[in-house]
Amino acid sequence: MAMVADEKIKVLLLGSGGREHALAKKLAESPHCEKLYIAPGNGGTAREGENVAIDENSSEAVVSFAQEKGVGLVVIGPEAPLVVGVADAVRAAGIPCFGPGLDGAQMEGSKKFAKDIMSKAGIPTAAYQSFTEATPAEAYVRELGAPVVVKADGLAAGKGVVVAQTEGEAVEAVRACFDGAFGDAGATVVVEECLKGPECSLLAFTDGKTVLPMATSQDHKRALEGDKGPNTGGMGVYSPVPIVTDDEHEAMVAMMNKAVAELDAEGIDYRGCLYGGFMLTEDGPKVLEFNARFGDPETQVILPRLKNDLVEVMMACATQTLAEVDLAWADEYAVSVVLTSAGYPGSYEKGKVITGIEAAEALEAVTVYHAGTAINEAGELVTSGGRVLDVTAMAPTFAEARERAYAACEKISFEGKTFRRDIGARALKGRAAWDE
Ligand code: AMP
Ligand code: GLY
Repeated sequence: MAMVADEKIKVLLLGSGGREHALAKKLAESPHCEKLYIAPGNGGTAREGENVAIDENSSEAVVSFAQEKGVGLVVIGPEAPLVVGVADAVRAAGIPCFGPGLDGAQMEGSKKFAKDIMSKAGIPTAAYQSFTEATPAEAYVRELGAPVVVKADGLAAGKGVVVAQTEGEAVEAVRACFDGAFGDAGATVVVEECLKGPECSLLAFTDGKTVLPMATSQDHKRALEGDKGPNTGGMGVYSPVPIVTDDEHEAMVAMMNKAVAELDAEGIDYRGCLYGGFMLTEDGPKVLEFNARFGDPETQVILPRLKNDLVEVMMACATQTLAEVDLAWADEYAVSVVLTSAGYPGSYEKGKVITGIEAAEALEAVTVYHAGTAINEAGELVTSGGRVLDVTAMAPTFAEARERAYAACEKISFEGKTFRRDIGARALKGRAAWDE
């Protein structure tokens, strides 16, 4: 049953990044949201609801808090609670939950699982093999030739991927994985064909049967301008992606539907967000990866454009009534630039005082989502992570949204503030910019 008009519920959101600030803001805006708890939250989510100090990865802690407070919906932001089965525990306690169980979360938790689903569902993706020993992995590197991609099989916060330009670099990456650079995540190594083209993310709401695609977005994964340097969790993003053709969009939507249908056929009841990461190759879109959750920072440009009530949509996913929902999107563009601590994705210092957020948000249609912030003992807002703030702007045109976002970035200060100045630069030039 869909929610009735004046129904009010308490919502518990798990997570503490910029994605969770964007989710929290949208959930808190809903007239259905009587009270919002965020566990553990950050300096920004505290503006939208009440941060609570419970361990988001502990099923017992989450379920007992939800029961004690009479929570009517649990929303799981990050992958870590999903892959340890927090959603299963919440549902077993009879509480609606937005987020797949342990089985569905393997779409993200194991690249091998995701590749097997793609192969069964006939979803185009890069050729690959997975290995538990270095010698055959290195032989496959030589067979594919450079450029070639080496990935840790498990979760590595977006950093377990090396796009190697030479065979030597690839072999080095294989050895680093097996030597424990990514801990257990690297015990199995995937070696795959390097795809070329613009990237595009297409996220979808699903209740396990119905699939509702969200607006497209494009992240910038590399640390440095010109898409150079190591992979990060994401340095900036925009939505929608203007260079995607109608045919490509249709193909991506079809693949999202096939993926959910295959999960369903295997008896996996997937309720939440399925994130499709695509490469728009000359042979059409191919899947790079699936994630079992909203993207970070993609959420920070997708949700501000969503016109629906997020509590209603998430409850429909959790209670399998999504067929009754239609999504609507604002025509405006959204651009978000990530301000990071100097050194990210490597080591960085924390505890730097942040100023200027109010001045940034005083600019038209600018929202600053907190990713890695905390309040220190003196009551000051300080940096507490590699990705610190997501400076998001909306505007009727892509160019204006970029200008607004960058103007807002200039208003904010903290020691070591680092960001890419070319977020969306290629998309602004058009498709040919990817061939340069
Ligand atoms: P993943 O975590 O698998 O999405 O990989 C992170 C990033 O690495 C992607 O967003 C791409 O930028 C890059 N990447 C992953 N797989 C490939 C591939 N097969 N070919 C080219 N680039 C890739
Ligand atoms: N921005 C990439 C991700 O969330 O996986």
